[in-house]
Parts: sequence; C-alpha cells; structure tokens
Amino acid sequence: MSNSTQPKYRAKIVGAGSYVPPDILTNADLEKIVDTSDEWILTRTGIKERHICTREMSGVDMAAHACRAAIEKANWKAEDVEMIIVATVTPDYRLPSNSCMLQERLGLVNAGTMDVAAACAGYIHGQSIASAYIESGQYQKILVIGVEKLSTITNYKDRGTCILFGDAAGAVALERTTDDTGVLASFLKSDGRLGKLLWIPVGGTHSPYSEAHEAGDIDNGEDCLNMVGSEVFKHAVRQMGDAALKVIEMAGMTTSDVDMVVPHQANIRIIDALRKRLGLPEEKVYVNIDRFGNTSSASVPLALDEALTTKKINAGDNVLMLAFGGGLTWGASLVRM
Ligand code: ACO
Repeated sequence: MSNSTQPKYRAKIVGAGSYVPPDILTNADLEKIVDTSDEWILTRTGIKERHICTREMSGVDMAAHACRAAIEKANWKAEDVEMIIVATVTPDYRLPSNSCMLQERLGLVNAGTMDVAAACAGYIHGQSIASAYIESGQYQKILVIGVEKLSTITNYKDRGTCILFGDAAGAVALERTTDDTGVLASFLKSDGRLGKLLWIPVGGTHSPYSEAHEAGDIDNGEDCLNMVGSEVFKHAVRQMGDAALKVIEMAGMTTSDVDMVVPHQANIRIIDALRKRLGLPEEKVYVNIDRFGNTSSASVPLALDEALTTKKINAGDNVLMLAFGGGLTWGASLVRM
C-alpha cells in the first residue's frame, strides 16, 4: 500500500509505449467459429474486434516494440534502466522470464528483472512495486510492462470466453521525481478463495500438460482460460469500485479531482457500472475495448499510451487506474501526470 504522507521521492510516468499485432479477429470472424453473433458480443461486452498474434510473434516481440517507444519518449538510454518488471500470465517460456529476455533483447545491461503474475491486474501490481522502489530511493528509472499473448490460452470452442480476449503489450517508464507528480497512492488486494472462478486447470506442475493430454483434458479446453463469467463480473464491479474510492481517499482527494479513469478493459458493462458508482461523466473514462478486447495485463498501459498520445490525458491530470483479474486479484492507483 502506498501512502498519503508526502514521500521524498515519487515515481513519475515519463514515457509510455504500446504494440498490438496487425492481424484482427472481428466479431464476424467469431460468428464462423462459435455459436455467437456480432450483436450479442457488442451489447454484452462492447467488443468489436481484437488483435491476434501469428504463431511466430511472441510476447517478448510485442513487449520489445512497446518498450522501445516508452524508452524513446522518456529520453532514456538503454543503460539507464535499473529494473524491468513484466506483468504477464503468458510468458514465452517458463524459464527464462520475459523480463530477462527483454533485458537481453533491448540491451538493458544495468537492469534487474522480475516477472509478476497477477492476470489482468498485473500492470497495476508492477507499477505499485516500481513506485515503492522509487519512493524508497533504491532505484530511479524502472520499466513496467504488461504483455499477453492470450490467444495461446484461449479456447476457441468456448463462446463464453473466446469472444473476449486479444493480444497486446504496453510499457511505461517511471522515473524518480521530487515534485508533486507521479504515483500518489496505490492499493492491491486479492481473494485466493475465488481462484477457480478464472483459472487454467492444466499445464502447471500440479497437472502437467503431458499427463493431461493422455487423460483427454486438453480436448476439453482445460489448458485454456476457464471462467465463470457472471461471477467474475460481480466481483469486478464491487472490488474495483471499492479500490477506486480507497486510493482517492488515500491521496486526499474526491472523485471530482479525477481527470481521467483508465480502467482495465474487460467489459463495457463493468466499466459503465464503475463510472456510475463513481459519479463520473463518460468523457472522464477512457475506453478502447471495442478495438482491442480484453488484453489482460496489457490493457491499462495500452489504454494509457493511447490516451497520452491522443492528448486525452495531459500534464498535471489526476489519472485513476483500475484493474481486476484472475486470482482473484485487483488494484487501483492514482497518478498525477
Ligand atoms: N454468444 C451468444 N451467447 C452467449 C455467448 C456468446 N459469445 N456467451 C455466453 N452466451 C450465453 C450463455 O450461454 C447464456 O445462455 P443461457 O442463458 O441460455 O444459459 C447467456 O448468454 C448468458 O450468459 P452469461 O455468462 O450469464 O453472460 P454474461 O452477461 O455474464 O456475459 C461475459 C458473459 C461477457 C463473459 C461477462 O460475464 C463478463 O464480461 N465477465 C467478466 C469477465 C472479466 O472481467 N474477467 C476478468 C479478467 S480476465 C483475466 O484475468 C485473464
């Protein structure tokens, strides 16, 4: 948990970048794969299309594009980066980590590395860790990345999940500042009792892929995301709303001080319910779910990068970031740009 007392240092966002693969999967494409319709998907989720990687493109490939853009906008050199935090539940390999692979790919020779697994709330977790490091004085320049190749863990026979997910990467450069900007407050929370509302039963050490393959579990999509969507929906609305109010209070603000909300893009109905609970107008909530779907940990930095590029977010704005995902995990962060 971050603090409402004034730290000596804060973590300021000095650059952002994002990447989505060129191939697009539309609702019309999905109509040909499962029993669904463009009308159902649009009204129930707000999604029109999502970007999907080719077999050859990896998460690290996407993340490298996003990082290069963030580093350039921050005006850093590769050797300036002191820590790389990658949020992902779809790493290229179980070993080495995506963060180590990114370090090598981008020549970030002076950086430490870590991967964080908190599903769709992963970026908020990474940013919160980075902020704490910078506030403590240990590091000055940290890259936080959210990247997912969700298409590899999506069951394209399950209409309840395959319509939701897309692939993407987002990266943010955080730098020490002594002025009144940066991450003002962060809050993270989980409820492990609800882990099986959204999980991948097969592929870990408890149920290795090879054994599950022999048992026929793979054919049933057990190596993919399994979700009780309507339950996850209810928890997402309640917990993200509570987390939002908590960080606003921690920062000594009220909802009217928030200039823009950048929520995890999971479902337009979740986003609308949150907006109404916070009493905010539509123009104060950034939405791009229609074009990208749910990209899990990439969703918040992807939306943030777009909002910065299109000047929907500007210097001095108070930005409320919210996310919720498998675990169950959730978090919020209030950042002054
Ligand atoms: N097309 C047509 N009908 C469908 C589809 C589809 N693609 N999917 C489900 N349905 C049907 C169901 O079979 C059901 O039919 P029935 O009433 O005859 O049984 C009906 O629609 C309603 O199903 P619900 O699952 O109750 O639909 P709901 O309104 O809850 O929408 C959704 C489903 C979109 C998945 C929603 O629950 C949701 O967005 N949940 C939250 C997802 C989320 O936030 N996940 C967290 C992050 S993900 C991560 O961490 C990786």
